Amino acid sequence: MTADKPDPPLLERAAAAILKAGRVVALTGAGISVESGIPPFRGKGGLWETIDPMEYAHIDAFQRDPAKVWRVLIKDMKEVLDRADPNEAHRALAWMEKQNLLQAVITQNVDGLHQCAGSTDVIEFHGNFAWQRCIKCKARTATAAVDLCRLPPRCRCGGILRPECIFFGELIPPQCLRRAEQLSAHCDVMLVIGTSASVYPAASMPFIANQNGATVIEINPERTALSGKVSDFLIAGHAGPVMKALVKTIVERL
Ligand code: OAD
Repeated sequence: MTADKPDPPLLERAAAAILKAGRVVALTGAGISVESGIPPFRGKGGLWETIDPMEYAHIDAFQRDPAKVWRVLIKDMKEVLDRADPNEAHRALAWMEKQNLLQAVITQNVDGLHQCAGSTDVIEFHGNFAWQRCIKCKARTATAAVDLCRLPPRCRCGGILRPECIFFGELIPPQCLRRAEQLSAHCDVMLVIGTSASVYPAASMPFIANQNGATVIEINPERTALSGKVSDFLIAGHAGPVMKALVKTIVERL
């Protein structure tokens, strides 16, 4: 099977599990947004191939030199995310939610594309890039309204702005973590789409699902740390074509 022609028996198996399940949850990562033009972090073409996350994506690095982190990482991220639209895979998950076939999406992405596609219950594990927060007065500013002429950009009060995203070294908001853990513990099926499952605690969600008896289905062109261990099976392929084919298979069975 190629990345754009997913294996029909596996699609049938996934569709049957989803239709039989009471609760389905999706865990998504950077891979789901690759077809929207946003590069992943790891692997071929990944962001961490060209820049060192500890030098640019750690909270200590931001505190040490916010101008450098804005110049090298955040400004480019803004330009890439500004141009991105949801793809087939984001739309498929939004469709599943509307059909009551999906309870919620737990995403590690900060691009807001699940909501743009129409998903309403999205747990943003690592925050959302659409907003910036002043590190001094805590006022929020829409990222779209931030003036990038002088870096780092500043709030009206003079404080430095930072994205409402989690840097390495920061804690996941406790309410997000709690809700994600509850959803993972109580789901019957977990779809794990486009994540290398290498960053914790997000990567522990499939383990929680698996330990509580859920069927864990991966959608990824590559094997991951979960494959053959925590996930029941992997539908090899790109998220867009696989999710489109999965929706078609579900519709044929409805
Ligand atoms: P990674 O970049 O680690 O992994 C992306 C995954 O997507 C890989 O397993 C790829 O094989 C897969 N992939 C690539 N193209 C794909 C496609 N078209 N369709 C489906 N899958 C595809 O991204 P994450 O697992 O999301 O955190 O990374 C987790 C966290 O690490 C991020 O949230 C970020 C990063 O450092 C922070 O910045 C805190």
